[in-house]
Amino acid sequence: MRVEITVNGSSRSDDVEPRLLLVHYLREVCGLRAANVGCDTTSCGACTVLLDGVSVKSCTVLAVQANGRSVTTAEGLSGVDGQLHPVQQAFRQEHGLQCGFCTPGMVMATVGFLAENPDPTEQEVREGLEGNLCRCTGYHNIVRAVLSAAGRLSAPGESPDAVAAPRELSAAGELSAAGELSAAGER
Ligand code: FES
Ligand code: FES
Repeated sequence: MRVEITVNGSSRSDDVEPRLLLVHYLREVCGLRAANVGCDTTSCGACTVLLDGVSVKSCTVLAVQANGRSVTTAEGLSGVDGQLHPVQQAFRQEHGLQCGFCTPGMVMATVGFLAENPDPTEQEVREGLEGNLCRCTGYHNIVRAVLSAAGRLSAPGESPDAVAAPRELSAAGELSAAGELSAAGER
């Protein structure tokens, strides 16, 4: 079946099997490897991308369902000059990653989340990203990064190189609902 999909701003036309998942289309047909497959249970969020600006787990969407629509992956976030997106800058500055396997999905989920809630509380961040699992970081720095990115994105006059200081976090430190990784979340 032929699909017409705009991927990271470029229009594509590809023949795909009707059963092909969007994540496999991105990785195997488009050669974009940022969206990872960390489970087969729709639970890890490593495959998160934006579909028409809304974050989705691309392992739960068929490529044919993206026909006529726009998909953005982490590769498409950077500016034309290669400058990192403010959310990517925040994750780097706040050390919101370790092995990096979950990071593209975390970043894309954050972009989608902040588009809907540009000034979230810490608790809202924890709830908003509970569909994305990380086995490395303990989530503390991820939450700091999201809050930092929110501050950065709400200050349009600020230098793109600067990332706002994150607000203070509670002593809780870890995402409650997403704090436990199943074995399915491992590579
Ligand atoms: S690979 Fe999509 S949720 Fe885990
Ligand atoms: S940084 Fe390793 S899984 Fe999140």
